[in-house]
Amino acid sequence: MKSIAVIPGDGIGKEVVPVGMRVIDAAGKKFGFSFTWDTFPWSCEYYLDRGSMMPDDGLAILKGYDAIYLGAVGAPGVPDAVSLWGLLIPIRRTFRQYVNLRPVRLLKGITSPLRNLNPGDIDICVVRENNEGEYSNVGGRIYAGTELEMAMQQSIFTRKGVEGIVRFAFELGMQRKKHVTSATKSNGIIYTMPFWDEIFWSLAAEYPNVRADQYHIDNLCAQFVLQPERFDVVVGSNLFGDILSDLGPAIAGSLGIAPSANLNPEKAFPSMFEPVHGSAPDIAGKRIANPIGQIWSGAMMLEHLGYGEAARAIEKAIEIVTGAQRVKTPDLGGSATTEDVGNAIIAAL
Ligand code: NAI
Ligand code: MG
Repeated sequence: MKSIAVIPGDGIGKEVVPVGMRVIDAAGKKFGFSFTWDTFPWSCEYYLDRGSMMPDDGLAILKGYDAIYLGAVGAPGVPDAVSLWGLLIPIRRTFRQYVNLRPVRLLKGITSPLRNLNPGDIDICVVRENNEGEYSNVGGRIYAGTELEMAMQQSIFTRKGVEGIVRFAFELGMQRKKHVTSATKSNGIIYTMPFWDEIFWSLAAEYPNVRADQYHIDNLCAQFVLQPERFDVVVGSNLFGDILSDLGPAIAGSLGIAPSANLNPEKAFPSMFEPVHGSAPDIAGKRIANPIGQIWSGAMMLEHLGYGEAARAIEKAIEIVTGAQRVKTPDLGGSATTEDVGNAIIAAL
């Protein structure tokens, strides 16, 4: 029996997480496994109450679990840097979750904002470096408020970090359509990006059966819109991966359906599974949040924990429901509630 730490967080996180848990429990019943769930209230609400996003021993508590199932954190009135650096980033870094995996698939019944695309035309896995790169806390500001004021932020690229993420992308490519694309910008960023490129091409040589190519990030964004069907696995640094993994769900129809996994592939620490979307304060409390991103993230958790068959069954059930076009939340043009969609997916399962 696996034990899961649950952090619903804020806003719609608290609405979609229980639905995700119900779908996983239903899959467990069907495939013969069960989880214990321990829910933690760590969130912006908790922060406003106690002055921190989680208790001092929060990470030590989480370390004992097989995985972390998270909704979203963020609330008006709390700076986003507090919720990010007080909870998500410490979890991702302490547990060496150096892979942020974000599948982007155009599901049946979902309309892409791009013209002339059919289900299956978009099937991309964005592999984002999740621990280093441009998102570092090395740097500073001096001479505040004077004409000499300056800010400096250091990017950090380590050989271990770049090799780790690029190797993960090639291993994933081997299991998919054997095509890996690297996001770079070595024409403008002349130290870290050529270093990234060198490591990418030296690892590409170890995978002769995988087609490798690279695009500058600006052109890559354009190609995601113009010809998304040409991509399979796309690997990028923390910043480039972040940009692509919001652009991806946008062309695939809705932020509300996009899942993600923060993986420690070695399984030395728990991995964390969360939808791409945030806490959506504009619709929180209305019970209309689309739970599919949360549910699909749960399927990724099952895959990681060794329940691949159940994971694929959930993904299939999601697509049965989107394809039938009957039970849809307002973001997809329907009038169903969060609960309705969860119930329909459980029924399809
Ligand atoms: P957001 O993802 O919360 O919302 C963007 C837009 O998409 C909103 O109009 C929202 O209503 C809609 N939307 C998002 N998820 C949806 C769903 N499941 N169903 C239907 N509609 C959905 O991003 P936003 O507004 O930039 O951020 C809101 C808060 O969430 C901020 O405090 C931000 O820091 C936080 N956030 C947290 C993340 C996390 O916990 N990993 C990720 C992104 C944002
Ligand atoms: Mg983002």
